[in-house]
Amino acid sequence: MTSAKDEPLAAGKDEPLAAAKASLRRRVLAARARLSPEQRAAAGRAIRDAVLALPQTQMAGTVAAYYSIGSEPDTHGLVYALWKRGTYVLLPRLRPDMDLDWASYEGPDSLRASPRGLTEPTEPPRGVPAVSRADLVIVPALAVDRRGMRLGRGGGSYDRALARVGPQVPTIALLYDAELVGEVPAAAHDQRVRLVACPATGITSLPHELPFSSPMP
Ligand SMILES: Nc1ncnc2c1ncn2[C@@H]1O[C@H](COP(=O)(O)OP(=O)(O)O)[C@@H](O)[C@H]1O
Ligand SMILES: [Mg+2]
Repeated sequence: MTSAKDEPLAAGKDEPLAAAKASLRRRVLAARARLSPEQRAAAGRAIRDAVLALPQTQMAGTVAAYYSIGSEPDTHGLVYALWKRGTYVLLPRLRPDMDLDWASYEGPDSLRASPRGLTEPTEPPRGVPAVSRADLVIVPALAVDRRGMRLGRGGGSYDRALARVGPQVPTIALLYDAELVGEVPAAAHDQRVRLVACPATGITSLPHELPFSSPMP
């Protein structure tokens, strides 16, 4: 992504946490706004192919994903391809309290525009705990760091959703290449992801500590 080269997406070290997060969000969104629709679509295709080729995706009976909006890397093709493959795909429905409910994707006609500008599934909601039944969880992010710490849009929705996902379930954030950064400002409530998928660099596994009781991988 050439547009990000002149403006590195590093986090400022001296700012208070909320201001540092807000500043990084602004810089990422400004860089994304400079991308053409063709660049977004191409990024989405590369990410789609990388995610579909992952063994964790191929083994997953249920995948929790999201339907991209605006300048996000396109996920529409990925969601469609997973469904076509026979995977059970859950998509989020944003609740008024910013938590996420989940409903199944049953093809392109099973979506509608929500009042908040999102595209959401029309199938009956399965409840906020439904994400814990997914074998793979695909999440949006504005930036992820080398620890897997994730910056979202500021609603904390995915911190809540990811806290319900078991420690052995692969979680993957979809990013443009410049958005895998050295350090993301993070608070105690912030949840990590275990993998990122980027258009040029493909899949990166991020270190994470397994719970004490877990067997070594
Ligand atoms: N587990 C949680 N329960 C309730 N509220 C939460 C939780 N996690 C995050 N939040 C709320 O979301 C807000 C934004 O979180 P933040 O991590 O800055 O956003 P994002 O993860 O979208 O970048 C927090 O200040 C907090 O009020
Ligand atoms: Mg957060």
